[in-house]
Amino acid sequence: MSTSIKNICCIGAGYVGGPSMAVIAAHCPNLQINVVDRNKDRIDAWNSISLDDLPVYEPGLKTIISRFRGINLHFSIDIEKHISEADMVFISVNTPTKVKGIGAGQASDLKWIESCARQIGTYAKGSTIIVEKSTLPVKTASTIKTILESYVLGNNTDESKNKTFSILSNPEFLAEGTAVEDLENPDRVLIGGEDKNSILVLKDIYLKWVDEEKILTTDLWSSELSKLISNAFLAQRISSINSISALCEVTEANINNVSKAVGMDKRIGKYFLNSGPGFGGSCFKKDISNLIYICNHYGLSEVAAYWEQVILINKWQQKRITRIIVDKLFGTISEKKITVLGFAFKPNTNDTRDSPAIHICNDLLEEGCFLSIYDPKVNENQIKKELSQSENSNSLDISTSLYEAAKGSDAIIILTDWEEFFNIDFKKLSTIMRAPSWIFDSRDVVDQEIAKNFGFKVWKLGNG
Ligand code: NAD
Ligand code: UDX
Repeated sequence: MSTSIKNICCIGAGYVGGPSMAVIAAHCPNLQINVVDRNKDRIDAWNSISLDDLPVYEPGLKTIISRFRGINLHFSIDIEKHISEADMVFISVNTPTKVKGIGAGQASDLKWIESCARQIGTYAKGSTIIVEKSTLPVKTASTIKTILESYVLGNNTDESKNKTFSILSNPEFLAEGTAVEDLENPDRVLIGGEDKNSILVLKDIYLKWVDEEKILTTDLWSSELSKLISNAFLAQRISSINSISALCEVTEANINNVSKAVGMDKRIGKYFLNSGPGFGGSCFKKDISNLIYICNHYGLSEVAAYWEQVILINKWQQKRITRIIVDKLFGTISEKKITVLGFAFKPNTNDTRDSPAIHICNDLLEEGCFLSIYDPKVNENQIKKELSQSENSNSLDISTSLYEAAKGSDAIIILTDWEEFFNIDFKKLSTIMRAPSWIFDSRDVVDQEIAKNFGFKVWKLGNG
């Protein structure tokens, strides 16, 4: 029999911590859930009166927050208090790629995980179940365990002697833009651990809304590793289809027809076969890089080289798009105005982490053009921050409407498939751009026959 719990603390109020705890709160009225973060601005934003100021934009999230915030879902910077009161602590902090030192550019920087383990070791009382929700290198649970043990062993106070910890791995598979939907109806919930009772306690929470057959329990290491491998497989499909998009362009084939034909094979499946400007987001590149690092660490250099190609093709696809734009615009875009539509790494999110738009905009700026950028959800400060490394970062302007952005430009490049871009008014556009006007569509949103009828020259990715 599992022991019931009353208080959950989640460390990390980010894209995963906020939505995942909101959905647990919605299904478990008997649990008090405190999401804590050391970033006060973020916590203030989660507590903001206007639900339009929440730090994470996700369809459906506002409604859940409005119903459960202050009832059984709370956001706080009082980390010490909420860890000490918790029966279960989720670790949902960032695990970015190391930027310097050993493993820079590949290994995960686990300093935030270590700081969580130390906070839990210091403040937890009695028996606490620790749940790894962050994406972690395989074997991280053993590091957390070692750190936690140091707060118990050799520590002779009564309070320390009474502390016990059980560690579970429960990776999160949500995708941004569909986070609430993915959390409400997951393909699977994965729980890895050693202690059967702790596994049951966590499983009981998910059973409130997830079918039992979708809840998979495994050992710790398989669970930790499965998360990295899921992301690696998804990213691999994108690089595979993107590599073929280039082949379609030179053979007069059409990437959509190829994807459809290939994806109709049940063994392959139709999902994740959309070609585009390469994958972005905070996860794929980071997690594959980490996988490559781990493989090299264990001497599996051929395996590492295999996965390295997924990242190389992704970079190549982005460079290739800039080369095509320059080529089509008579070999130079210097002093031309280019409009970029979409800056988020995918639609329905305001997240720009590792967005293909960052790399492509930097390359375009390097060619000397003036960029005019419009995204329905990413604000001006965020776009400017992402492009601030460019030497030419003053050659850009951020607009609040598609048509304002397009005024006087020689070309439009569509980098995110926001709904709004499927309904472009080409008649209006044709009167405000400079001819010959180009549309470069990297996301298959434009009907090229309609656009051509209004005098546009159109390039579509993967369309020969
Ligand atoms: P995030 O950067 O949005 O949020 C992490 C938060 O943790 C930050 O607000 C930070 O201030 C806080 N934090 C870090 N250390 C802390 C500490 N010691 N005490 C208190 N707060 C602390 O990150 P995210 O996108 O939510 O990702 C979290 C983890 O989930 C990562 O490992 C990521 O790989 C994984 N993941 C992310 C996604 C996604 O779509 N973003 C999906 C699945 C898994
Ligand atoms: C991903 C995983 O999907 C999710 O399971 C994991 O938990 C976190 O990482 P996310 O990065 O939020 O989620 O979005 P995803 O939908 O996977 O898209 C990632 C990138 O791939 C985006 O830039 C998207 O535009 C691109 N993509 C996706 C394609 O180019 N083609 C596709 O067919 C699918």
